[in-house]
Amino acid sequence: SVIREISGISAMEENLQRKLGIQKVIIVSGNCDESPWVKTELGRAAANRMKSNLTGENIIAVTGGSTIAAVADMLTPVDISQSCLFVPARGGIGEDVKNQANSICAAMADRTESKHRVLYIPDQVSQEMYESIIKEREISEVLKLIKSASMVLHGIGDAITMAERRKSSSEDLAKIKSEKAEGEAFGYYFNQKGEVVHKVQTIGLQLKDLSAIPHVIAVAGGKTKAKAIAAYMKQAPQSTVLVTDEGAAKSLLEG
Ligand code: BG6
Repeated sequence: SVIREISGISAMEENLQRKLGIQKVIIVSGNCDESPWVKTELGRAAANRMKSNLTGENIIAVTGGSTIAAVADMLTPVDISQSCLFVPARGGIGEDVKNQANSICAAMADRTESKHRVLYIPDQVSQEMYESIIKEREISEVLKLIKSASMVLHGIGDAITMAERRKSSSEDLAKIKSEKAEGEAFGYYFNQKGEVVHKVQTIGLQLKDLSAIPHVIAVAGGKTKAKAIAAYMKQAPQSTVLVTDEGAAKSLLEG
């Protein structure tokens, strides 16, 4: 729009897209660290992008977090020619209920008048639990759906914030700090170079699965997340569309 051109947002989007080496960047005005309504706008922009990417049948894998919860709030019923099935990208019980992928999937299905599946598994599982739980029929069915997702909608978090929010053990927290992790996505922690320095043993979508998924939408804003976004974007598949805000974008372009 004219407003976006005058305010320089369109130019920022192009510059940032080139800098990060991804498919597209969408920037909303403001900084969600300071104004809560900016998160609502992130949600709106991501919901619009999501809807424009829908084809006949869609399996949409979704992560948790307050930003993705804001996307759910902005969804509206899909066209009758389309069907959506929302699945949590990975196990993730441990977060605040409203920010868990299971609840967000339910909300998205409700808003779009479509279906969802749940994955009632803790965020972090032991090797023994992992091996036995993936044999459960219900769970293996949902895992198959996740692996065949046509779209992924995910958040990105600041590494330390996420480690604390997940109540990580003191050893894991120490490792995340000493390895200088900056960003987190899908339970993986990345340093400034984009190297994985720690990973939560989790069920569901793994980083390597992302490149096979046609539409990947990352939603994260706020100046305080700029470093986290930069770190993760070094690993992100080229097909990624980043929906962010001016606060993060300005800082990413300076860095
Ligand atoms: C979590 C995801 O639920 O949300 C993380 O598992 C992500 O991968 C985080 O980093 C982002 O949370 P928020 O509240 O900052 O959107």
